[in-house]
Parts: sequence; structure tokens; C-alpha cells
Amino acid sequence: MSNNVKLTINGREVEVPQGTNLVDATKAAGSPVPHFCYHKNLSVAGNCRMCVVEIEGVRGLPIACNSTATDGMVVNTESEVVKETRAAVMEFLLINHPIDCPVCDQAGECKLQKYYMEHDRGDSAVAIGDKVKKGKALEVGPRVMLDQERCVACSRCVRFCDEVSKTGELRLMNRGDHTTIDTFAGRELDNAYSVNTVDICPVGALTSRDFRFQARAWFLRDSESVCPGCATGCNIDVSVYDQVELSDYNGQAYRIRPRENDAVNKSWMCDAGRDVYTRINSNRIDQPFAHGIEVSWDGAISRAHKLLHGATEIPGSVVGVLGFDCTNEEAYLFARMMREVFGTSQVALLASRPLQQGDDLLIDADPHANRRGVEAVIGDAAVGDVAEYLKGAQGVIVLGADPRHYMHASAIRDAFSGIKQQVVFSATVTEATEGAAIVLPTSSFLEKEGTWINRDGRIQRLFRGSRGHGESREDVVALAAFAQAFVETWTERSAIDAFDELVADHQGPFGGLTYDAIGKLGVETQTAASSTDVLKGATS
Ligand code: SF4
Ligand code: FES
Repeated sequence: MSNNVKLTINGREVEVPQGTNLVDATKAAGSPVPHFCYHKNLSVAGNCRMCVVEIEGVRGLPIACNSTATDGMVVNTESEVVKETRAAVMEFLLINHPIDCPVCDQAGECKLQKYYMEHDRGDSAVAIGDKVKKGKALEVGPRVMLDQERCVACSRCVRFCDEVSKTGELRLMNRGDHTTIDTFAGRELDNAYSVNTVDICPVGALTSRDFRFQARAWFLRDSESVCPGCATGCNIDVSVYDQVELSDYNGQAYRIRPRENDAVNKSWMCDAGRDVYTRINSNRIDQPFAHGIEVSWDGAISRAHKLLHGATEIPGSVVGVLGFDCTNEEAYLFARMMREVFGTSQVALLASRPLQQGDDLLIDADPHANRRGVEAVIGDAAVGDVAEYLKGAQGVIVLGADPRHYMHASAIRDAFSGIKQQVVFSATVTEATEGAAIVLPTSSFLEKEGTWINRDGRIQRLFRGSRGHGESREDVVALAAFAQAFVETWTERSAIDAFDELVADHQGPFGGLTYDAIGKLGVETQTAASSTDVLKGATS
């Protein structure tokens, strides 16, 4: 039996799942009703009245957000009375609004601006000088700024703090045209998820202190990706500068916002995850280095070959170290290169950051994006005692890890430092790149294709949303250029080709997957839980 209902919206029949509310049903029918206070992942408040519709057989103008689609329902979102009522609601909302769009950070992304152009276009009934004055540019928390005059009192931010972060810092106070948002006395909007209030504020009342005045929204392009901040893998949009005229800034990331995925993060992400855009812009390696001197890619690779080719005569004398931020495809090609070029079937896996405090909402104790994926790909080839593995090696190749990092045991750091012939692939400057003989610059998570597996075993795709930084190359391309210096027949593969090979070789955990089927929202895999599940108890 179907769990769907059929209704007619503006003369068009549409089928939606039982229980769908009319805001979502009108969207499905291609005639979305305007709305401020409704948010799919919050309770219904029904206070802005912008979503009024006509329903055949129902008196008055019900609000869509508080009405459920039923079989046979006939809805009109565009009748004259609905349009007039919407315009009246807009006039009411704008009565005391400061109309400061030219200096408002929300301009270009503001629902009030958009709806004014679509549904109102009238003059304000109240002169600017006579409007009710409220607080402007109030620092309500370490990450959020409040402009009370721009608020439409939709209460989304209050409901977020009550229902999602459950921290309850915000309230609506006073009555009538003096109604305003504020924090409770003596409190700040200071929780691990506070910037979600900025995302869901439909107007410019709540703005991000980090992003404020950094770039106008129309100079930015949103690129879909996955947050590299922890094992949850929240789906995100990275806003990247994208203008022909000011091309010097092109590719620079300005902010990260959550991308909706009900199976992972719904509409939310943590505040710390928003800061990872700095990994795209800062501390990057622009150019290959050989013994501390900038060189070309060809120069770096021929020096690396000179350094290591003697050792390839003795299988196992060159060892490999891999980090948990690598994609599955990089891990696969790295292990294969170590086997086919350097004759070792083992790879050392190293964390890049210590475990952190997790919570019950989204933040995971494991600060790596792909520990579960890398462990599934490397499997039994992962070495148990890393210090022992490194001891006595003639050469070492590192991809996306930092064996010199203070978090590793001194036995690991000492054993690594004892190897003279070090080749390090890295996107950013680390302690390992500082001391390495050869450094090859690779990509940030926004500059490559590939897949990660999150804590729940969901495989998700990265998307190449920005050109590389300086002379850096996609990791799979850099690996191929390096391997070809030793084995001419080694072929360069795209991340997608590497994914197909990986699936063919690892039918158990990855069986039946195709790159296209993973899509924008990811799919579940049969991979085993990652090793941190044992460690998490110690930190969370
Ligand atoms: Fe709504 Fe924004 Fe005002 Fe909060 S600050 S009530 S989200 S308009
Ligand atoms: Fe329905 Fe606000 S969205 S009343």
C-alpha cells in the first residue's frame, strides 16, 4: 500500500509522502510558498504568516507550515487574496526595518530582500526617522553578531538553541513593535553549534563574525564537499571566490556552511568545522622542494629517484607512511605503489591529530575524516609497531602524515628522523616537510576528487571545487608522476579510475559500489568500525 497522498496545487496534481506539510508539498509541486519561520528540522512556530494559502473547503487563509497535505486537497498559492495578504505581511515586517541593505552582510542572500522584490515592492508606510530603534552590531557571542533592527522575530534561532543545541541562550523579549531577540541576562550565545543560527536566520539579523564583511555573496560560488574536521563527515558547501575581474582571489575559500543530508548532519554542522576552510588557504606548500630549495616537479622527481633507486634493489628497504586524511583512492594507490615499486606489502598508518572531546550531536572524538576508509583499504597490510617498522629503513615515503609530530611516541619520531632519504607528499607545511629531503605539494580536500568513509560506514564523495594551490597537484597525479620515475609502465589514473580498481580488489567492504551511485549524499558500505571506537571511551 502506498504511503503517499495525492493533492492538487495550483491546478497541478502532485504526490507526496503522508505527513508532508504544505510548505514542502508546494515546493515539490514547483510553486514554493514564501516563508520565514518554517524550517524543516525545527518545530513549527507559525508566527511570520508569510506562507498563507487558500485550501478549498477551509475558511480563511490557513498557513501552509501548519497544514498537512491530505488526499484530494486542493490548494491555491497564487489567488488574488493570497497575493494581497502576502504583500500586507511584507509591509508589516518592513515597517520598522532599517533598510540598510547596502551595508548588510546578508545582502544577496536575504529572504526579506528576495520576497520584497517578488511579493511587495511598496513604499514603507513609516519614514526612516520615525522607525523604532533597537540594538545594532551587538556581539552576542564569540562567533555571532546581532542586529536587532533587522530581525523579523521568526524565532528560528531561539528554536535552534532550545531544540538542537539544547543550550537555550536566546529568547524573544518585549511585545508588539518592540519585540526583539536577545540572550538571557548574563549569557552569551556560546555553544559548539552557535553559527547554525546565522545560517537559518532568514535576514541579516544574525551574522558570522568570522565571515562578516569579508566578501559579498555574489562574488562567491558554493562548492559541495564533506567536512574534514572529524569522522562524522558533515556535508558542507564551501564558498569560494569566483570572479573573472579579481582573479587573484579566485579559488580562495571564505566560509563553510552545512549542506543538507538527513542521513548525516540534517541541516547542521559544528562551529569548529567551519574553521577548516583555513586548511585550503593557509600554510600551503606552493612548490616542490629538494633539500630545502625550490625546484620544478621534474627536478624534484629526478632527485627523488636518485635518492631512492639504489634502495629499490633491496625489497622492503623503503617504507611507507600514510595518514587518515587521505582518500580511499590515495590509500589504495599508495599501498599498491609500495608493493609494486618498493617491494613491501606493509604500510604504517599514523594519526595527524590527537583524539578530541566528542558529543552526542555531531562532533566525533576522532578528528580525522577517513580513518575508517584508510583502515578498510589497507587492511592486514597495516603495520602493528610503527617505530620498529621505520627502524633501519633506508628510505621513507610519507603521504598526508607527520611522523615528527609531537603527538607521536618518541620512538616513532626518533626512528623517522634516523632515515635520511625522506620523500614527503603534503598539502601543508608540517614538521615532516621541514626536515624532508624531497617535498611534493599536494591538494587540499577541495581541490580533488575522491571518497571518504565516515564513522557510520557511509562512503561520501569529495568534489573538485577549486583549482590547485600554486604548483600543487592532486595526490593521485603526484603519486603517479613519482612512481613512473621508478617503473615506466606505472600508469596515471584519475581518482575515479582508482576507485573502480579499489572496488574490484576489495569486494568485501566496497562490493557493488559505483562512483556515480555514491552521488552527492553518499551510500552505506560494509566496512568494519574504525579502531578509534576502542579509544573513544577515553575521551568522550
Ligand atoms: Fe528570526 Fe533571525 Fe530574528 Fe532569530 S534573529 S528571530 S532567526 S529573524
Ligand atoms: Fe508559516 Fe511562518 S512559515 S507562518
